[in-house]
Amino acid sequence: MAKIEARTVMSDQNGSVVARSHERKIRKSLGAGKTNGKGAKESSRNRVKPINRLNDLNAKEWIPETVSVWIQRGLGKGHEHAQIERQHPAPFSYQDVGRLIRFFTKTGETVLDPFVGVGSTLKAAAMEGRKGIGIELNKKYADLARVRLKTELTEEVAAAARKDQKVIRGDARSVIPTLAANSVKLVVTSPPYWNILHKQDHKQRQERVAHGLDTRYSSHAADLGNIESYPAFLEALANTLSLTRTCLADGGHLCIVVGDFRQKSKYFMFHADIAREMEARGFTLKGLKVLYQRHKRIFPYGFPYSYVPNLHHQYIVILAK
Ligand SMILES: C[S@@+](CC[C@H](N)C(=O)[O-])C[C@H]1O[C@@H](n2cnc3c(N)ncnc32)[C@H](O)[C@@H]1O
Repeated sequence: MAKIEARTVMSDQNGSVVARSHERKIRKSLGAGKTNGKGAKESSRNRVKPINRLNDLNAKEWIPETVSVWIQRGLGKGHEHAQIERQHPAPFSYQDVGRLIRFFTKTGETVLDPFVGVGSTLKAAAMEGRKGIGIELNKKYADLARVRLKTELTEEVAAAARKDQKVIRGDARSVIPTLAANSVKLVVTSPPYWNILHKQDHKQRQERVAHGLDTRYSSHAADLGNIESYPAFLEALANTLSLTRTCLADGGHLCIVVGDFRQKSKYFMFHADIAREMEARGFTLKGLKVLYQRHKRIFPYGFPYSYVPNLHHQYIVILAK
């Protein structure tokens, strides 16, 4: 026990090492890797059950993925394959999306991201041997997503991606209805968080200005991140996501990666609002995951007057068709 604690403290500055340590502990508590007394590994844990219609995971791989807290994984901003990702103001990690893809699809099935940005979902889909469709309004990001599929994958995976991964430039509201019925097994996305990128005091925004990087997605009227009122934004987003019901196969899932946020002194429970709106449109809420962003900097917000949180987590809202 003392050993585990020491290792966790020592790797405090490195989210991915901490994540691996945390996951090892979970696997250990599940008895994964135990032998049967004759030296052979317990084999039923290692076999994919024939009745498993959801994914290609065996018991040993499946059970840890059901834990409701994940530690966000990332390459670190100095990594050569993090440079395109950095050009976008709000990418998510392809490693976290890869975990969702592995859990909610089988090899060869199709994943859709209606707000694909610079293509993190398609990169993950390619690496997992799934087909992918990504929709993006902003030409610059759609083009970068295509570059990423050529430059951040092994030769073999990039060759398969040429036919299996599709980036479609356009408004998700017009493109989703053109997709074939029942053709997608998982919709996974991170939408704009209302217009919070426009906030002047947004710390990340100040840092991006200093580095000459984009601070908002676009000035396009069809960009959901430019809608002025929160209720109008929420309705537009929920209506857009509910368009996926037709292309989503029976038994398919919708995973929405979102964070709560503050606008002036008001706190918005965005994850709860979008979950409620999707349930009102016929989706079934299966659960939430907290995605702990352990790497984020801490700012002295509110000190010494009032409680203002450093928001260091996102949610994955998991819904079924
Ligand atoms: C949070 S970002 C997604 C980032 C993405 N997960 C990634 O890792 O690159 C949301 C994206 O939605 C796009 N967007 C906004 N309105 C859209 C619309 N109506 N149709 C398609 N894309 C839209 C924005 O340009 C932005 O790139």
